[in-house]
Amino acid sequence: MDSVMAHMTDGVIATDRRGNVTIINETASSFLDHEPDDAVGKSILDLLDIRDDYTLRELLEDPDDLVLDFSTKEHDLILQAYFSLIQRESGFISGLVCVLHDVTEQQKIDQDRREFVSNVSHELRTPLTSVRSYIEALSEGAWKDPKVAPDFLKVTQEETDRMIRMINDLLTLSRMDSGTQKVDLEMVNLNELFNYVLDRFDMMLKQDDQPEKTYTIKRDFTKRDLWVEIDTDRFTQVLDNLMNNAIKYSPDGGVVTARLLETHNNVILSVSDQGLGIPRADIPRIFDRFYRVDKARSRAQGGTGLGLAISREVVQMLGGRIWVDSREGRGSTFYISLPYKPYDEEDLWDEDN
Ligand SMILES: Nc1ncnc2c1ncn2[C@@H]1O[C@H](COP(=O)(O)OP(=O)(O)O)[C@@H](O)[C@H]1O
Ligand SMILES: [Mg+2]
Repeated sequence: MDSVMAHMTDGVIATDRRGNVTIINETASSFLDHEPDDAVGKSILDLLDIRDDYTLRELLEDPDDLVLDFSTKEHDLILQAYFSLIQRESGFISGLVCVLHDVTEQQKIDQDRREFVSNVSHELRTPLTSVRSYIEALSEGAWKDPKVAPDFLKVTQEETDRMIRMINDLLTLSRMDSGTQKVDLEMVNLNELFNYVLDRFDMMLKQDDQPEKTYTIKRDFTKRDLWVEIDTDRFTQVLDNLMNNAIKYSPDGGVVTARLLETHNNVILSVSDQGLGIPRADIPRIFDRFYRVDKARSRAQGGTGLGLAISREVVQMLGGRIWVDSREGRGSTFYISLPYKPYDEEDLWDEDN
C-alpha cells in the first residue's frame, strides 16, 4: 500500500484485479456489517453498495475518494473510502486496496456548521428586509405623514435593536465555543442575587404607566442563605432570560413563581409561569440555537432564539444543569441546579480555631 495510510481504526479491503475481495479486516467487515468469510469473493462494488454509481473500470482508472453513507435507523455511519491500486513495476494492475475511514463525527460537525451559518443569515435577513421596506416607504414620502412616520421609525429602531442583541448573543456564544469567554468566579449569596433580579422586574412593571401586560412575581425561597461559586454577570443574564421568557409567554395578569431551595449538594432554582407551555415534541430542542416553538411570535416579541442556548452554556460552564418541565396550555417551569457545599457556622468556627 503506497499512497494510502491506514490506521488501526480504519477498515481495509483488498481485491484482485476483477474487484473481488481477497482480504478484509475486522473493522471493515463490522463497518459493512458482513462476516469476513461472506465478504471474501464478493465484488467490492456490491460490498460498498456503489454498483449503480460506479463501474470497476472507473475505480481502477481514476480511483477518487468517495464519501459513503451507511447510516441505519439505529446509528449514523459515514465512511470516507480511499482507493489505491496494487500495481507491479511493469504497470500491471493486480488489484485494488480500499481504506475506509469513519468520518461520521466530522460530517456531523460540518453539517451543524452549515446549518448554523444558514440560520444566522436567515435570522439577520428577516429584520434587515423589514427595516429596508420601512425606510423605503419613509423615503418615498411617508416621512411627511405624521400618522405613520413615528410608527415606521419605531419599527426600524426595534428591529435594529434586535439585530444588535442577536449579534451580541452570537459573539457571546462564539466566545464560549472557543473557550475564550472569561469566567469570573466568586462566592455569591444566591438569595440576594435572585432577589435583586426579581426586584428589577417588579420595578419595571411599577414604572410603566401603561404596561402591555401585568404580572405578579411570587417568591418561595429557603430560609437559609445559599452561597454558590458563580460568574455574577453571566448568571444574572441567565436569570434575566428565564424571567423574560416567563413573562413573555405568560397571559396578562399571570403569576410567575420564583423558587430557591437546597438539597444535600445542590441548589435548585426555578421559575414557573402560567403561560401557554411547550409542546412535548419541542421540549428537547428549545435549548438549541435559534430554536423557537413559534418563530413569528418570538420575533414579534423581540426574541432572538438564543437566550436558552446561552443559558445552557453558562449553567454547564458552572458545573450545573438546566431543564424544563412543561405542559401545553398549563405553563412551564424552568429549573437550574448548581453544585453546592453547605457549610454552617460551626464549620466556620472550626476553621477559625
Ligand atoms: N416560559 C416559556 N413558556 C413557553 N415557551 C417558552 C418559555 N421559555 C422559552 N420558551 C420557548 O423556547 C424558545 C426559546 O427560548 P429563547 O432561547 O429564550 O428564545 P426567545 O425568547 O428569544 O424566543 C422560545 O421561542 C419559546 O418557544
Ligand atoms: Mg428568551
